[in-house]
Amino acid sequence: MEEIKAFNHYLEYIGGELYIEGVPVRELAVKYGTPLYIYSANYIRERVDLYKNAFPEALICYAVKANFNPEIIKIAGEKGCGADIVSGGELFFSLRAGIDPKRIVYSGVGKTSEEISYALDTGILMFNVESRMELDVINGIAKSKGKKAPVSLRVNPDVDPKTHPYIATGMKESKFGIDIKRALDEYKYASSLSNIEVIGIHCHIGSQITEISPFSEAVERVIDLYHNLLNEGIEIRYVDIGGGLGIRYKPEDTEPSPLDLYEAIKPYISDIKAKLIIEPGRSVVGNAGIFVTEVQFIKKKEGKNFIIVDGGMNDLIRPSIYGAYHHIVPVTPKGNKKIKADIVGPICETGDFLAKDREIEEPERGDLLAVLSAGAYGYVMSSYYNLRKRPAEILVDGESYRCIRKRQDYDDMYELHCK
Ligand code: LLP
Repeated sequence: MEEIKAFNHYLEYIGGELYIEGVPVRELAVKYGTPLYIYSANYIRERVDLYKNAFPEALICYAVKANFNPEIIKIAGEKGCGADIVSGGELFFSLRAGIDPKRIVYSGVGKTSEEISYALDTGILMFNVESRMELDVINGIAKSKGKKAPVSLRVNPDVDPKTHPYIATGMKESKFGIDIKRALDEYKYASSLSNIEVIGIHCHIGSQITEISPFSEAVERVIDLYHNLLNEGIEIRYVDIGGGLGIRYKPEDTEPSPLDLYEAIKPYISDIKAKLIIEPGRSVVGNAGIFVTEVQFIKKKEGKNFIIVDGGMNDLIRPSIYGAYHHIVPVTPKGNKKIKADIVGPICETGDFLAKDREIEEPERGDLLAVLSAGAYGYVMSSYYNLRKRPAEILVDGESYRCIRKRQDYDDMYELHCK
C-alpha cells in the first residue's frame, strides 16, 4: 500500500483510509458522489516548480489539453506558466483563467479561420504552424486585419519517441509538423510573406515518453536547423521543444525528471540566444489526480471475474483506446483475499474496462476504488456516452477542498440539444 506514495506523495493511508493531501477520499465520495475526479493542488505546484528549477530561463507553457479545468489552468498560471493550446476553446479558457496572451503558444494541424482570427485578435505569443497552406491562410487573415502574425514552424524531426503509436507525433509518417529536411525552404517562404513574422521553431515528438534519448535527438536536430537559419539570416527568438515527458503509471515504473531532460539537452541549447519554451502537460497534472469509482457488482464467470464499477470508458477512456495501465487501489482496504479480475464499467461495450486481469483484494458492493494517475487526459477526454453524467471534479488544497466542476445532471444533458 505504501507504493502509492511513489505516484504522489500526497496520497497516503491514514487509519486504514486513503487520503489525498489532508482530506479523506471517502469523505469526498460521500459528499459529491461517484464517479469522481479529485486533484491535489500542491502536487501540481510542486511539479511546475520542478520545471522552473530545471529550466529557470525558459517559458513553461502548460499544455492545457492535459486538463483544461480553469482552476487547474489558474494554478499553473499563478506559478508563472503560460499556456500551450490547440483550439479556440483552449484559448478562451486560458484567457479566462488569467493567462497573459503573450505567454500563449498555439499548435495544431487544423486551426480554423475563426480560431486563427480569434488568436490574432487576442495577441498570442505565436502560432506553431504545421503546413505551407496554413501559413498562407494565417498570412491572409493577418493581412485583412492589418497585422503581422508571429509564427514558428512546427518541424517534424523524424525521431522515434518509443511510446504508443497513437501518441507518437514526431515521426515522418505522422500528420504533424513540416519535414525537417524541407524546413529551410519553408522558413524562406514564410519569411517572404508580408504579414508573417517568423520568430520561432517548434517541435513536439509525442507523449508519455519515458526515455530521454528521443528528446536529445530531436533537440539536436532542431538546434542544427536553428544554426542553419541563422546562417541564412533568419533570426529565431524562440525554440519550443514541446512536451511529452512521461510519468509513472505502475509502481515499478521510473519516470524521467525535468532536470534529466535539461541535462540531456544542455549541450545543444547552452550557446543559443533564443528563449526556450517547454509545453508539459501530463508530467504536471497526471499524478495529481485520482478517479474514484464505486463497486456495483461482482460477477464470477467460468474462468473470469469481473468487478463492475460505476465509472467507465465514458469517464476515463485511456485503458480502452491505448490499452493504458492505471494502477487501482482500494480507498478503504479491508484485507480481503486477492482475486484476479477485469475491472469494468457500465457501458455497453466489451472495450469498456479500466483494468484487465488485475490482482486486487476482493471488494464488496459499495466499496470505493481509486484509479491513480488520472489527472491528465482523464476528465478532458470524457463523454456522456450512454447518457451517463460526466463526473464532478474536486480540487484538494491542503486541508481544504472545493468542487471545481459539478456533476452533469439529466437536465444539463437534455438542454444541450436544440429544441
Ligand atoms: N505540446 C503539443 C503540441 C502536444 O500535442 C502535446 C500533447 C503536448 C504539448 C503535451 O504533451 P504531454 O506533456 O502531456 O505529454 N490523450 C493521450 C495524450 C495525447 C497527447 C497529445 N499531445 C493520452 O491519454 O495518453
